[in-house]
Amino acid sequence: MKKPGEIDTGEKILKLLRAEKESYLSGEDLSRKFKMTRAAVWKHIHALIGQGYGIESCPHKGYRLLSVPDKLLPAEIRQGLKTKYMARELYCYNESGSTNETAMKLAGEKAPAGTVVITEKQTAGKGRLNRNWSSPAGLGLWFSVILRPGISPKRAADLTFVAGLAVVKAIRSFTGLEAGLKWPNDIYINGKKACGILTEINADSDIVKYLVLGIGINVNTGKTDFPEELRTRATSLALEAGKKLSRLGLLNVLIAELEKQYEIYKKKGFPVFAAEWKKNSVIMNKRVKVKGLTETFEGIAVDIDPDGALVLRLNSGELKRIYSGDVS
Ligand code: BTN
Repeated sequence: MKKPGEIDTGEKILKLLRAEKESYLSGEDLSRKFKMTRAAVWKHIHALIGQGYGIESCPHKGYRLLSVPDKLLPAEIRQGLKTKYMARELYCYNESGSTNETAMKLAGEKAPAGTVVITEKQTAGKGRLNRNWSSPAGLGLWFSVILRPGISPKRAADLTFVAGLAVVKAIRSFTGLEAGLKWPNDIYINGKKACGILTEINADSDIVKYLVLGIGINVNTGKTDFPEELRTRATSLALEAGKKLSRLGLLNVLIAELEKQYEIYKKKGFPVFAAEWKKNSVIMNKRVKVKGLTETFEGIAVDIDPDGALVLRLNSGELKRIYSGDVS
């Protein structure tokens, strides 16, 4: 496999074909440009066709790009990318166990901050609290981002908030859907979960060595693509919008938003950031039930404190800080 940041000859040919738009690019021009035989040019074209690109080959005229596949291919992701470092290193797979697992391994091998691992399908997608994350082929965005924030492990959960806000803003701007945040890390639309975030870290006692943000978004998942037990609680962007959506388009908006929100967090700190998070939350000032590890609490969600804890006003009037749990 070629290195993740590297653009190979096939990708360079694709870029030229894209620039030609409706016109043809002759095999002779390509063979001169890349100093290779016409047969070698054809091999690259053939490989692109194998990846799903529609390329017309016309005698005496050359090659013309007709269509691009609805797949999360490096060339497609890269060409819409407007970031400084986010997703500049990319690992794309057809299938993987869990992108978080792969990203943690790559981070341990010194992959730079901003590296993205993305897959069409996960066979062992992980959710919070040791749950599974259903990740069917070609229907969602299942990806992980490596960050090296240089913060204390106590602050690692901040990045889950950063990712959540970026996802909500990206979904709203790309689809117009009223997505909102549910503490600590879920994205809801019309009362159902459309996205989850799983943050994992490798840390010493005082510093995070690296952190992986795992983001799962149900984009074009149909009702029956969800496991039966999730069908009443889970949704997808397509189900809510009533039409199929471009995963690539959303990914590009989201990666740019993630870089933007991460920069704001680094410059301004968590409290400023949390204020914006609260504005985009679906639970603030609402009555909720929070199932913690050992106890369940009911009350009005009134705040997110500087440590990221959810502050509940219990029926007794007492303010209760909750550090981990499931909100309903
Ligand atoms: C949750 O809500 O429980 C968190 C779900 C996180 C799912 C994503 S999909 C990409 C990344 N890889 C994983 O194995 N999990 C996260």
